[in-house]
Amino acid sequence: MSRRPILVDCDTGIDDALALAYLLAEPAVDIVGVTTVSGNTDAARAAANTLSLFELAGVHDIPVAIGAHDFRDRAYAGGAPHVHGDDGVGGIALTAAARAHDARPAVELIDHLASRHPDLTVLALGPLTNLAAYAEAPGVAAFDHLVVMGGAFAHSGNVTAWAEANIHNDPESAAVVFAQDWDTTLVPLDVTMTQTLDETDLVRLEAIPGALPQALAAMLPLYLDFYAGRVFADRRCALHDPLAAMVAAGVLRGVSVASGQVDVRLERGERGRTVSSRGSHTQRWVRGMEGSAVEVLLDRLESRDWLA
Ligand code: BDR
Ligand code: CA
Repeated sequence: MSRRPILVDCDTGIDDALALAYLLAEPAVDIVGVTTVSGNTDAARAAANTLSLFELAGVHDIPVAIGAHDFRDRAYAGGAPHVHGDDGVGGIALTAAARAHDARPAVELIDHLASRHPDLTVLALGPLTNLAAYAEAPGVAAFDHLVVMGGAFAHSGNVTAWAEANIHNDPESAAVVFAQDWDTTLVPLDVTMTQTLDETDLVRLEAIPGALPQALAAMLPLYLDFYAGRVFADRRCALHDPLAAMVAAGVLRGVSVASGQVDVRLERGERGRTVSSRGSHTQRWVRGMEGSAVEVLLDRLESRDWLA
């Protein structure tokens, strides 16, 4: 069976790092490129982190291009050091990679890879700034499928009561992307909050030899610290980006999947909230919607061990 080509657009980030590591090991896919965006950390740092992680994995040929530093309507104002550390990867002082980033702008690299791989899946794990720019770039190639980690429907937000971080960082770009006639699957907090990693998993990860698993294990305590007590009663953290990566790889199916128009609230107070065009945020409306471009995963059919 041929591997599914995937371009990852990410803000590397602890859970982005886990998703990249998973995709490197997943036989169903082939990462053909990475573009970065500001979010958990700034876009240049996210690219440096990605290159360092690839080097630890012995991967030297996947192009990594730096995307948007600032959001569509606002300047980037710092990442999430309280969640991901000052460097985005738990403060573990990753060694800088010998290899430099790809000099092409993110939009150019996406266009190049979409032209080369008509069956390309784009997996967006950060704010949608680069993808909105792609939507508006003239003459660029179409890709096959877009999978986005972002949004919150029946579940509460993780930045405000309503909004999820990737959408909240750049809601104007999210609105542009969700309005496209693209084959888009949205993987919101409703489902990613069900995929967690606990201390037992961490011990299993620590036992895996190799520079990359060891680096991942070293960055996780900070992420667990953020979640412990605040989000989950016990010491566990959510694996948002790895779950979206499993969906993009085609190894995890949704049980509660709905299609419909997803709108993004831009006004103060509700900024970054994802809602249906009918204005409700319950699962009922999502199931009832028809005929527009965005597929929303609200729950999943099976569980899968991310570490297996
Ligand atoms: C999302 O926001 C980022 O902090 C994480 O990497 C993930 O992509 C979760 O809301
Ligand atoms: Ca991310």
